[in-house]
Amino acid sequence: MTFEYAPAPESRAIVSIKPKYGHFINGSFVSGKKHFPTINPATEEILSHIALGGTSDVDKAVAAAQKAYTKTWSKLSGKERGKYLYRIARILQERAREFAVLETLDNGKPIRETRDIDIPLVAAHFFYHAGWADKLDYAGLGHSPQAYGVAGQIIPWNFPLLMLAWKVAPALATGNTVVLKPAETTSLTALLFAEVCQQAELPDGVVNIVTGDGSTGAAIVNHPGIHKIAFTGSTDVGKKIARAIASTDKKATLELGGKGANIVFDDAPVDETVEGIVNGIFFNQGHVCCAGSRLILQESIAEEIIEKLKVRMSKIRVGDPLDKNTDLGAINSKEQLLKIKELSAVGDAEGADRWSPQCNLSDKGFWFAPTIFTGVTQAHRIAQEEIFGPVLSVLTFRTPQEGIDKANNTPFGLSAGIWSEKGSRIFWASQHLKAGVIWANTFNKFDPASPFGGYKESGWGREGGRHGLAAYLKNGKESGAK
Ligand code: NAI
Ligand code: MG
Repeated sequence: MTFEYAPAPESRAIVSIKPKYGHFINGSFVSGKKHFPTINPATEEILSHIALGGTSDVDKAVAAAQKAYTKTWSKLSGKERGKYLYRIARILQERAREFAVLETLDNGKPIRETRDIDIPLVAAHFFYHAGWADKLDYAGLGHSPQAYGVAGQIIPWNFPLLMLAWKVAPALATGNTVVLKPAETTSLTALLFAEVCQQAELPDGVVNIVTGDGSTGAAIVNHPGIHKIAFTGSTDVGKKIARAIASTDKKATLELGGKGANIVFDDAPVDETVEGIVNGIFFNQGHVCCAGSRLILQESIAEEIIEKLKVRMSKIRVGDPLDKNTDLGAINSKEQLLKIKELSAVGDAEGADRWSPQCNLSDKGFWFAPTIFTGVTQAHRIAQEEIFGPVLSVLTFRTPQEGIDKANNTPFGLSAGIWSEKGSRIFWASQHLKAGVIWANTFNKFDPASPFGGYKESGWGREGGRHGLAAYLKNGKESGAK
C-alpha cells in the first residue's frame, strides 16, 4: 500500500510584490524607463515588471559606487565593514521565509530547497565573510591587501539570491563597492535584498542593483569605472566577457558551465549512491552548473544501479513549487524548456534510450519530467553539452582508468563525484580527475569556506573561502583569475 501526499502549500501571504520596480542606485529606488515582465514559471502568472537598465543607468550606478568607495567605504575599518555584513546576515535570517517564498515564486524551484538550502546558505555567506572583514591582514594574502574599488557583478537565474550572496559578501568584506545585475527572469529577490541594505543602513552607493538583460550586463562589463568583474552564467557569455576585457586591466572571475561526472565504482554503497545520483542531477531541476549530469557506472554494477535509480525516480514528486512535498519544481523559463527539449530530442536521434517515470505535468507553466538516457557514448552531444535540466546521461566503464578517461573527456571541468567504499580508490580517482570541486560519496554540498570554481571552459578563478577573497584584492595571491 502506498500513501498519497495531501497538498501542503506554503502561503504566499508573506510576500508583497510591487507591480513595477526601478533600479536601486545610491541607496534609493529610482524609476526605470522601459520595463519587462517577470513571471512565475509554474503558472505563467505575471508577478511584476522589471526595469530594463541602459548605459545611463549603469553610469549612474557606477558613479554612486565610486563615490561610496572613495568617500565612505574605503575609509571604514574592516571591523566596521564587518558589522554591516553581520547586520545584513541577521536580517536575511529574520526575513528568511519571505525570501524563500519570493524566490520560489519567481524562479520555480521548490520551497523545500529555497527554505532549507538557498536562503540558509545566503545567510551563511554573509556571516562567513563578515568574519573575514577585519582579518584580511592575517589571511595569508599579503600585507594590507587593497580593494579594487568598484566591482561589476553579473549573475544567473538558477540560484538568484545565492549567487548574489556569493558576489556581494566577499566584495564588501574586502572593501569593494558593487554594481550588480540579476538575471532577467529572476530579479525579485535581488530587489528585496536592496530593501535589506536600506534596513541595515548600509551607506548609500555601497550596493547598487541595476536590472536588465544581456545589454545591461555588457554595459557593466565595458564601463571604464569598473575594475573587477565577477560573472556566473553560460560559457558563451563568459567568452564574450573575456574578449571584452582582454585589452583592459580589468580583473575577472568567470564561473561558467559544466558537465559533471558522477563516477560509480563496483564497490560503491548502492542505496546511498542512488540517493546521491538523484541529488546530483535532479536538485534544482538540474539547473546547476556543477550538476552530476553524466553518470559513469562501472559495467558490473550498472544494471543494478539503473534499476534502483528508476524505482527512486518514480518517487520524485514533480509539481507546485510552493508545495512543501514537491521535489522537482518548474523549469525556469520557456527558453530553457525549449533547450532541454531540443537536446533531449538530439539524444533520441543519436540512438540513446530515454526513460522517464509517469508524471502528470500541468499544461500551464514550464515542466520537464526527470529523465535518464542510457546507452550514451562519449561522442553523443548529450554526453558533451550542458543540458541544464533534469536529464541524466549514463555511460559505462570497465577499468578504473577508463572511468577517469571518460570523466575527463569534456571541454568542462567544474565538478565530479566519486562513489566507492575504498579511501585509496577515492584519493587515486580525485588526483586524476580534472575538476575544480570533487565530492566523495556525496554530491552538491556547498559551504562558504570551501573554494568553488573550475578548469578549462568551466571558468577562471575561485569563489568562496580564502581563495575567493583573493579575487577581490589587488595584491591577493592564489585566486587563479585574470
Ligand atoms: P547567460 O549566460 O546568457 O546569462 C547569465 C547572465 O549574464 C544574465 O544576467 C544575463 O543577462 C547576462 N548576460 C547575457 N549576455 C551578456 C553579455 N553579453 N555581457 C554581460 N552579461 C550578459 O545564460 P542564459 O541565457 O540565461 O542561459 C543559457 C545557458 O547557459 C543555460 O542553458 C545553461 O546551459 C547555461 N547557464 C549556466 C549557468 C551556470 O551557473 N554555469 C547559469 C545560467 C545559465
Ligand atoms: Mg521569474
